[in-house]
Amino acid sequence: MYKLVKPILFSLDPEEAHHLVSGGLRSFCKVWGGKRVLKSIYAYEHPKLARNVFGLTFKNPIGLAAGFDKNAAFVEEMDALGFGFVEIGTVTPKPQPGNERPRLFRLVNDKALINRMGFNNQGVDVAANRLRHLKKHTSIVVGGNIGKNKTTTNEDAVKDYIVCFDTLFDVVDYFVVNVSSPNTPGLRALQDKEPLMRILNALQQRNQKEGISRPILLKIAPDLTDGQLDDIIAIVQETGIAGIVATNTTVGREGLKDVRKASEAGGLSGVPLTKRSTDIIRYLSTHSNQTIPIIGVGGIHKPEDALEKLDAGAALIQLYTGFIYEGPALIKQIGKKIAHRS
Ligand code: FNR
Repeated sequence: MYKLVKPILFSLDPEEAHHLVSGGLRSFCKVWGGKRVLKSIYAYEHPKLARNVFGLTFKNPIGLAAGFDKNAAFVEEMDALGFGFVEIGTVTPKPQPGNERPRLFRLVNDKALINRMGFNNQGVDVAANRLRHLKKHTSIVVGGNIGKNKTTTNEDAVKDYIVCFDTLFDVVDYFVVNVSSPNTPGLRALQDKEPLMRILNALQQRNQKEGISRPILLKIAPDLTDGQLDDIIAIVQETGIAGIVATNTTVGREGLKDVRKASEAGGLSGVPLTKRSTDIIRYLSTHSNQTIPIIGVGGIHKPEDALEKLDAGAALIQLYTGFIYEGPALIKQIGKKIAHRS
């Protein structure tokens, strides 16, 4: 089905296509029986796919990466398509429009995207309200990816992360601290040891409400050196957070065929990222003696890419660009491959 609509979608502006698909999915799911129809086509259930990671139970290890559902508007639709978990966000305390358009580019010959969205989102309150309502209807695992507003200085960043953390605490199952987007000026400087420790320690100190605490993960860039990855491992161990999401988009541009679009500023995702993100997962897993749960993300476009990430040490995986290029059938294909080999 997706093969038929893809040429039409790819003839549109990428952001328009995104809104068309997500809006269409929502309308379809509102129709009586719509969700059931989607589930019967796309979802794949198998007992071997269930996972228990950082204290949460996932029906399968394939998640939707952050950025697709920034405002927590499509969680049920993604559940119907067969994802095992959805990471909403990045949300910021205040709503913000993001960068000027155009800010999302397809590099079709590279099976890649470049985006410089800049955390466009409706603000954490809107997302929290949607999730509060949603939690009554579905049991899918939901992660909350949190960031800072563009106008907040790095010195004050910790306050933004705390606001997002407190607001989402009751309505998400886990948190991801995003300090690795290349599209908020200066954000990635927060990956340095001192500011990062400050943010993670502040969140850990608040991570207790009526006996409940939430797993907190850190999302990192694929552009870190081995030395910086060693620091990340030490920081995770010292702060006692639950895990790492590896990786975000890259600022690298090596080996791209679409040289014209390659010059667009922003983060590159998709096939050109596959190997680098897998290498990072392997490095983190090996150098932490497999003690840190890792969500592997970056350039998963076929089932074998997913298996490679799991073999490299990922406990769970996520998709974004592969979902756009290959369509929702990819989720089922990956699920079948994992179930039948383990
Ligand atoms: C993203 N990504 C992202 N990540 C994040 O932590 N917060 C965000 O708001 C976004 N926004 C976003 C928008 C767009 C248009 C894209 C393509 C990506 C990064 C995403 O979650 C993922 O880490 C990377 O895209 C790598 O995975 P894929 O796309 O190669 O599967």
